[in-house]
Amino acid sequence: METIKVALGDRSYDILIGQGLLKRSAEFLAPLAREDRLLVVSDETVWSPLGMRLQAGLGGIEAVPILVPAGEESKSWAGLASVVDALLAHGVERKDHIIAFGGGVIGDLAGFAAAIVNRGCNFVQIPTSLLAQVDSSVGGKTAINVAAGKNLVGAFHQPSLVLVDPSLLDTLDPRQVRAGYAEIVKYALIEDSALFDWLEAEGTKVLAGDPTSRTRAIAAAVAGKARIVEADERETSGRRALLNLGHTFGHALEAETGYSDRLLHGEAVALGCVLAFDFSVLRGLCSEADADRVRAHFASAGLPTRLAELGLNGCGDALAAHMTHDKKREGGRTAFILVRGIGQAFVDKEIELSEVAKFLDRAA
Ligand SMILES: NC(=O)c1ccc[n+]([C@@H]2O[C@H](COP(=O)([O-])OP(=O)(O)OC[C@H]3O[C@@H](n4cnc5c(N)ncnc54)[C@H](O)[C@@H]3O)[C@@H](O)[C@H]2O)c1
Ligand SMILES: [Zn+2]
Repeated sequence: METIKVALGDRSYDILIGQGLLKRSAEFLAPLAREDRLLVVSDETVWSPLGMRLQAGLGGIEAVPILVPAGEESKSWAGLASVVDALLAHGVERKDHIIAFGGGVIGDLAGFAAAIVNRGCNFVQIPTSLLAQVDSSVGGKTAINVAAGKNLVGAFHQPSLVLVDPSLLDTLDPRQVRAGYAEIVKYALIEDSALFDWLEAEGTKVLAGDPTSRTRAIAAAVAGKARIVEADERETSGRRALLNLGHTFGHALEAETGYSDRLLHGEAVALGCVLAFDFSVLRGLCSEADADRVRAHFASAGLPTRLAELGLNGCGDALAAHMTHDKKREGGRTAFILVRGIGQAFVDKEIELSEVAKFLDRAA
């Protein structure tokens, strides 16, 4: 088992990563249970194959499920109300630890519910998708989607503990695994070129489910995110903004494809990273060789690397228009994460959207 500490003063916590960890849940969660029970927020798709496994790992402690339908629609005012009402109906108290057992949707929803119920109670993340294991379960951002846009209402609320068991991914759809893998590559591209070298050699094993490679890749990505979150918990200094590499382009692609199954978030991030590299090459910041390596690696992982694959070539203006709605905009400008090479990302706030639109129009 690997332990990664997130050092945030009195909000510090451990991330435990290990194959088969769920079986040992009682060891970590029994001290957090009250009257031998834990309230567990999950979705129906996760709970049906994995609920029994969690219950078995908890031994004599009862897992009380609070279930919402699977999917992004549950990250809504209505979904939040149903979870908060259920927690209160079960008599949740401030010192209780709510368990978020699912992908990023459940982590964001249960985390936000924990941030506001009784004016805030504790929560533990047990992420079950690869995206949640390497990204959304760490860092304390919680949110729901509202009419004006995605993730616009939420809170910073750090978990007390994160338990990551890569064996939970065995029931996850392979396309979702590839999408989560894109976020691992993203960390490597931000500031860990050695990790990128390793992924080029071992990434196929990570995707295929080799437990040792998976644990190592997850731990590397989580450690990368933890370091960035420690340095800039609330995204005030700009360091945490680096985590948005590939995301300004990616969100525009998701918006243009209607946030649908046509393009999963991680797939948009893969293509978004490729575009960030290509744009950096165009601006004379990064070598073409690095951009080629990035595209080749995402392609080898079965992720999209060309606008034409999505029929979005020649849509520069439409894509750039979505960027004006980016919630990370400050003073009317969109911050772009650009690169000087693999593992060398930086924030650039001086980019003109018209230049981006022209670049996207010409990109294949
Ligand atoms: N808080 C953050 O820092 C942060 C960061 C990145 C993404 N997010 C959010 O995360 C969400 C995306 O997360 P996601 O990709 O995990 O989506 P998700 O939670 O919708 O999970 C994807 C699908 O896989 C299913 N699933 C999850 N684990 C499974 C398992 N082990 N076996 C079988 N099925 C399983 C889910 O039921 C769902 O249908 C978005 O809402 C995004 O905004 C948050
Ligand atoms: Zn992301």
